[in-house]
Amino acid sequence: MSADRFGPGSHLLVTGGAGFIGSCFVRDVLARDDGTRLTVLDNLTYAGNEANLRPALDQPGQAARLRFVRGDIADPEVVGPLVADADAVLNFAAESHVDRSILDPEAFLRTGVIGVHVLLDACRREAARLASGERRTPAGDPRPAPRYLQVSTDEVYGSVETGESVESDPLAPRSPYAASKAAGELLVRSYVVTHGIDAVVTRGSNTYGPYHHPEKLIPLFITNALEDQPLPLYGDGLQQRDWLYVSDHAGAIDWVLRQGRSGETYNIPGAAEMTNRAVVALLLEILDKPWSLVRTVEDRPGHDRRYALDGTRLAALGWHNTVDFADGLRRTVDWFRANEDWWRAIKAGDWDAYYERQYGRRLAASSAASLNPAASSAVSLNPAASSAVSLNPAGSTAAD
Ligand code: NAD
Ligand code: DAU
Repeated sequence: MSADRFGPGSHLLVTGGAGFIGSCFVRDVLARDDGTRLTVLDNLTYAGNEANLRPALDQPGQAARLRFVRGDIADPEVVGPLVADADAVLNFAAESHVDRSILDPEAFLRTGVIGVHVLLDACRREAARLASGERRTPAGDPRPAPRYLQVSTDEVYGSVETGESVESDPLAPRSPYAASKAAGELLVRSYVVTHGIDAVVTRGSNTYGPYHHPEKLIPLFITNALEDQPLPLYGDGLQQRDWLYVSDHAGAIDWVLRQGRSGETYNIPGAAEMTNRAVVALLLEILDKPWSLVRTVEDRPGHDRRYALDGTRLAALGWHNTVDFADGLRRTVDWFRANEDWWRAIKAGDWDAYYERQYGRRLAASSAASLNPAASSAVSLNPAASSAVSLNPAGSTAAD
């Protein structure tokens, strides 16, 4: 696979490019100023936000290489011509919040299954057009069919009590969100096997950073804490996640696009495996806010206890993350402090209805969260200590 195929002068179709990770990919690729052109296809659900593309749109040199199309990946009329004009399709589009998939799963299936099918089918058609001699460059040369990259998640492995998931492990999703992502991956595999399309899959771990929608743990707790509002911690708070800074996730996706082997799946691990309690304690330390804001609330049904990814295959491609957790968290807090207008606009409108539905009863029945001394002793702003990320084993086994 030639890296140049997706380099300077290439044209990438980025679906879901107005969301959290997709917009980071768009901003970072355009900022390279290497001539890559991007089309974003996004139907701007509650999670999509054109403001996430503002930094690129404000730079004339970048704006000239960015086209925004508002549309649904499940609509073949919209998708067909865009895929025909692309060198690669990167599918970030999804309903992405586990709690919402428990409340209302249908949109997850439409985007995660039908949407993926429509994109794959358009790629299959382009491969057929190439074979029949119809797909050509403006100069009349054969133009390779688009490579398809499916952005997936560590959640497809289900809850992993010990060890690290490798790419060949069975899929065992446990939430409607994770099931929709696993279904999307299986469709990709079927198109590779049956139709021979060029496709790769990435499975990233929990991502955080600027422009993260405030429904998710880290931005919810930052923005609530800035307003001295309660922080609703599910269950015992000893669930473990491996945190990945957003530009590392977007960079790894770009790396797999260029270097990955067709038909292959690549885990993208984070830089820090931590309990939720340890994350919250570190956040409060950075924000200089008290632990008394934290409320223990009823747990998420089917809550996955732990995710952990083995990154050997990605490392063998030559990719390494660059941002450690303590640094990334500080940058994230700084960004939310400096961009109040961005998150206050989201926490308006429909937000209150969602918040009441998700948290109203939980918070009414909540109790003050004890500061788990074992978990909090694992927390340090010392980068050396936090990159090693000591998830306190005593704390986590005690709760299992
Ligand atoms: P997000 O919710 O912030 O953004 C999703 C974007 O997709 C939004 O802009 C939304 O408008 C768009 N979208 C949704 N349905 C669409 C449709 N039918 N047609 C067109 N656009 C549509 O999500 P995110 O956190 O940026 O996640 C991006 C991708 O990465 C998702 O596929 C998610 O499953 C995956 N992922 C996320 C994480 C994480 O921690 N956030 C980790 C691993 C993988
Ligand atoms: O692991 C990758 C996944 O990470 C992605 O595929 C998902 O799109 C993304 O949303 C994220 O899923 P999680 O469910 O792990 O993220 P969330 O931020 O919702 O929750 C992180 C942890 O914090 C989880 O254990 C649940 C807990 N939590 C979350 C919220 C929103 C709380 O305790 N309280 C909360 O209010």
